[in-house]
Amino acid sequence: MLPGLALLLLAARLLMTLLVTGGAGFIGSNFVLDWLRESDEPVINLDCLTYAGNLHNLASLEGDPHHTFVRGNILDGDLVSALLRDHRVRAIVHFAAESHVDRSIHGPDDFIQTNIVGSFRLLEAARAHWMSLDGEAKAAFRFLHVSTDEVYGSLGAHDAAFTETHPYQPNSPYSASKAASDHLVRAYHHTYGLPVLTSNCSNNYGPYQFPEKLIPLVIHHALAGKPLPIYGDGQQVRDWLHVRDHASALRRILAQGTPGETYNVGGWNERPNLEVVHTLCRLLDEASPRPDGKPYSSQIEFVRDRPGHDRRYAIDARKIERELGWRPDETFESGMANTVAWYLAHQDWVRAVTDGSYRDWISRQYQ
Ligand code: NAD
Ligand code: TYD
Repeated sequence: MLPGLALLLLAARLLMTLLVTGGAGFIGSNFVLDWLRESDEPVINLDCLTYAGNLHNLASLEGDPHHTFVRGNILDGDLVSALLRDHRVRAIVHFAAESHVDRSIHGPDDFIQTNIVGSFRLLEAARAHWMSLDGEAKAAFRFLHVSTDEVYGSLGAHDAAFTETHPYQPNSPYSASKAASDHLVRAYHHTYGLPVLTSNCSNNYGPYQFPEKLIPLVIHHALAGKPLPIYGDGQQVRDWLHVRDHASALRRILAQGTPGETYNVGGWNERPNLEVVHTLCRLLDEASPRPDGKPYSSQIEFVRDRPGHDRRYAIDARKIERELGWRPDETFESGMANTVAWYLAHQDWVRAVTDGSYRDWISRQYQ
């Protein structure tokens, strides 16, 4: 064979592409933006654009040949198989999910379909694709499943934080559906040897988060002069991680994680909800004071608690630090400050997502 042709064939064999599912959502879009800032490995972004998917998040990638957006559903096994084959995908990063606990309480159906059945279909397509690879390509293939700390259930005030061996005890339809997908992912490794990685991460915040979740909802409502709804007594505790730190943890897990292992990802930032909301109010008081001079905290309203509301989540993130050398960059203070600044500078993005269907949700949930 001619040496030039051999080189060409080698280059084609080494061609690498990432398939990202749910890459138009909050964390997925941040991951894709950060990935393409740091790497020239192309991304196929598969997202069916539910209410939570937003192509505006990816506007800065318009015309970038490294990013291909495909509007499609992870439930469509034929589509996923074709994408894996045609783009010679070497890794899947699986974000696509229904992700909001309150919506899962109102209507769990979509959570079962996407989070459980969808993850199953994706695993099936991944397994067939992986089986079709040979040698190095087969050994290097990865399926990175992005999951949540909520699968572990709720902690008491003095319990030790969740480690990777904490028993699964999901309490909401959302966390139960994510737990089911985690189990499937684990089984595909144990039974078929599929090289999977699972991350269980705490609450994310940062740019492009849909304003149904606590932090963007509070910022949006504060600026709109609306009540800031605190469920129950507001003493529920979450660990908060900036989304760009989550993206960097996922890059690290993908590059260096051991197949079959799970990694807890957290920010070492446990805070009661009421404290989070007071922090946001204080930052807004400084950056964009109310015209009447009153503090934004005057808009706080305690509302009916979420049914089955988990009291406390806390992540022990020592394994990922010890084994992969990852730690978050942002502190709670720096992350909250730059997030408030981002939402203040991107009111047009907020306006674009708070359309009619968003208003329907808010009036149903906070009636
Ligand atoms: P999100 O709701 O903002 O985005 C989900 C994305 O998936 C959307 O773009 C949506 O259109 C897409 N999608 C939904 N169903 C789909 C389907 N059937 N086929 C294709 N695309 C589909 O969610 P997020 O907050 O970005 O979370 C991403 C992942 O991270 C989820 O798996 C979630 O469980 C996990 N996670 C989230 C957090 C958090 O704090 N948000 C924390 C830990 C883990
Ligand atoms: P959320 O952002 O929905 O994330 P998760 O339920 O996945 O932790 O909620 C974070 C915390 O804030 C949770 O304890 C519920 C609480 N919360 C409120 O008190 N008021 C609200 O309006 C919302 C959306 C959440």
